[in-house]
Amino acid sequence: MIITVDGPSGSGKGTLCQLLAAKLGYHLLDSGALYRLTALAITRAGVSLGDESAVAAVARELAVVFNVSAQEQSVILQGADVSAEIRREEVGMLASQVAAMPLVRAALLQRQRAFVESPGLVADGRDMGTVVFPEAEVKVFLTASSEERAKRRFLQLQERQVQGKGESPNMAVILADIEDRDARDRSRAASPLVPATDALQIDSSTMPIDAVLAEVLVQVSQRLASLESGLT
Ligand code: C5P
Repeated sequence: MIITVDGPSGSGKGTLCQLLAAKLGYHLLDSGALYRLTALAITRAGVSLGDESAVAAVARELAVVFNVSAQEQSVILQGADVSAEIRREEVGMLASQVAAMPLVRAALLQRQRAFVESPGLVADGRDMGTVVFPEAEVKVFLTASSEERAKRRFLQLQERQVQGKGESPNMAVILADIEDRDARDRSRAASPLVPATDALQIDSSTMPIDAVLAEVLVQVSQRLASLESGLT
C-alpha cells in the first residue's frame, strides 16, 4: 500500500504524513529532506549550482541515514545529526533550486523508490503521485492559501525564537519566500508541482489537521476494502 501526499510547503503535508504513518504503522518517506540534504551537502563541498552534473553526483552519493521513532525523525548525514540544519530557510530555498535540475531528480528517483516496504509507505513531497509512485493506491494533494501557510511558518519560527533557537521572524519576508518557492516548484519543467489526475484534493486553509487526517483515513480504508475484495 502506497499513500502519496503532495502539495506546497506549509500545507500541512509533513504533519499529515507523520500522523498517517503512525496511525497505520507504515513507513515514511520525507522526500523534501533528500533535496534539502543535497543542498546542504553541496554547500559544504563547495559545489557550484551552475555545475548540474556535480550537484547530481552529490545527490547520488549522499551518505544519509533516517532514524524514525514514534517521537521524532532524525537525519544523519556523514555521521552527524543535521535534522535542525536542513530545516533552515536558506537550505529550503537552495533545495528548491537544486530540485529544478533534471539530473538531480533522476539521481534521487531510485533512492526514493527504495523506501517502499511492507506493510506500506506514506510518501511526502511534490511529485510522489505523479512521477515517483504513479501506481500509488491513495493519492492526496494538500493545499492551503499562501497567507495561511505563511502564518503557520511565522508561528513555528516565533516558537523557535522563544526557545532561543532563531531570529525574530518577519511575516512579509516569509510570505515572499513561500510565493517564490511555490512559483519555482510549479513552473519548473522537471516534475512540476501539479496534482495527479487521480488525487484527492484537500484545501487545509480552514480545516484542522485532525479533519484532514480523518478524510484521508476514509479513503485508505475504502481502498483497502476494495483491494481485499479483489476490485481495483
Ligand atoms: O518539502 P520541503 O519543503 O522539505 O522540500 C524542500 C524543497 O524540495 C521544495 O521547495 C521543493 O522545491 C523540493 N522538493 C521537490 N520534490 C519533492 C520534495 C521536495 O522538488 N518530492
